[in-house]
Amino acid sequence: MKIDGTHYRSLWWNAERDVLEIIDQRWLPHDFRVIPVATMQDFADAIYEMRVRGAPLIGATAAYGMALAMREDPSDANMDAAWTFLEKTRPTAINLRWALDRCRAALRPLPQGERATAAHALAAEIADEDVEINRRIGAHGLEIIREIAAKKPAGEPVRLLTHCNAGWLATVDWGTATSPMYQAHEAGIPLHVWVDETRPRNQGALTAWELGSHGVPHTYITDNAGGHLMQHGLVDMVITGTDRTTRQGDVCNKIGTYLKALAARDNGVPFYVALPSPTIDWTVGDGVAEIPIEERNAREVTHIQGVTDEGGIGHVRVTPEGTEGGNPAFDVTPHRLVTGLITERGVCDASEEGLSGLFPEHAQA
Ligand code: MRU
Repeated sequence: MKIDGTHYRSLWWNAERDVLEIIDQRWLPHDFRVIPVATMQDFADAIYEMRVRGAPLIGATAAYGMALAMREDPSDANMDAAWTFLEKTRPTAINLRWALDRCRAALRPLPQGERATAAHALAAEIADEDVEINRRIGAHGLEIIREIAAKKPAGEPVRLLTHCNAGWLATVDWGTATSPMYQAHEAGIPLHVWVDETRPRNQGALTAWELGSHGVPHTYITDNAGGHLMQHGLVDMVITGTDRTTRQGDVCNKIGTYLKALAARDNGVPFYVALPSPTIDWTVGDGVAEIPIEERNAREVTHIQGVTDEGGIGHVRVTPEGTEGGNPAFDVTPHRLVTGLITERGVCDASEEGLSGLFPEHAQA
C-alpha cells in the first residue's frame, strides 16, 4: 500500500544489495525504518521480536529464511535444521509452518545445486500469492460491506470494529481484515472503523497508522470498549484476521478476539473473519483443545513499550515491582460465534462443510 505516495510491501528483495528488507514494525507508528535481514539469526529474531508479525507475513519471511539457508548450505540436513530453527520462533500462526512445509516439499526432490535458486523463486512466489489472496478477500468482503451500506440512510458510514492489526503490515500487502475496508473506501462507501488498541503490543496503533495513511476514518479505542459500543448500536460489523483457523471453523486470533465475538453475538452484530487459505489448519478440528497458544514474555504486560523522546524503544512499568504477569498472545473463538469466513474463494459458513465446499481439494475422505 502507499505511504506518502510510494508503494510499499511489508517485505521485499533488494536485488542491488542482494538482501531481504523489511519494515521494522517495532518502531511504527512513530518511525518508518527499513532494515536488512541477512543471517539466519536475523530471520529468527525478526519473527520472534515481532519486527515482522501477522500470520501471512511471518510465513513469507520464513520462506525467505529457507532461501537463505539453501544458499548457505543446500544439504538435506541444513534444510531440516532451518525448518526447525525458524518454526520454533512462534508457535500459533500456522502460516509459518505452512510456508516451511511448502518449501521443504518443493526443494527436497531437487538436486542440491538447484535448491538455492528454486528456494528464492518460491519465496517470491509465496509473497506474490499472498498479495493476490488478500486482494480477493477484499473483493468478497467489499460485497458484505456494500450490502450493509445499502440498508443505511445515504451517506451514513458503515461502522466496523477490528481487533489487532490484520492490515497490510501483517501480510505482504493489502491486509486481510483491512482489504475490504480499503476496497470499500476506494469504492466510495463511507466507513468508520473502531480500532481496538490490542494490549499488550498495541497492534491497533499499526492499524490506526495504516487507516490514517489511507484516509479511512477511524477511532482508536481501549480493548474493553467494544462491548459497550455494540450495546449502543454503534457497530454494524466486526471483522478480524486469524492466525489459524481449524477445519471446523474455529478461529484463533489475537488475545481478546473471543470476547469481541461474544459481545457481537449478544448484540446481534455480524462477526466476520478474513481468512486466507494458508491460515487454515486442516489437521485440527477443535481449536480450543488443540491449538498451541503462544505465551509471551510477561514484561510485555507489566510494562508498556513505546518510543522515548530520545528516539529509543523504552518501557514503563505499570504494575508494582514483583507483580507476576501472564501473557497468552492468542485465543480461540468457537465457530458457532462466527457469522462467516471471508476467503479468497468467497464467503462461507464457519464449518467443515463451509470450508470444504470452497476448498474441496482438502476435504477429508
Ligand atoms: O502477534 P501478532 O501481531 O503477530 O498477531 C497478529 C494477529 O493476531 C493478526 O490478527 C493475524 O495474524 C491475522 S494477520 C492478517
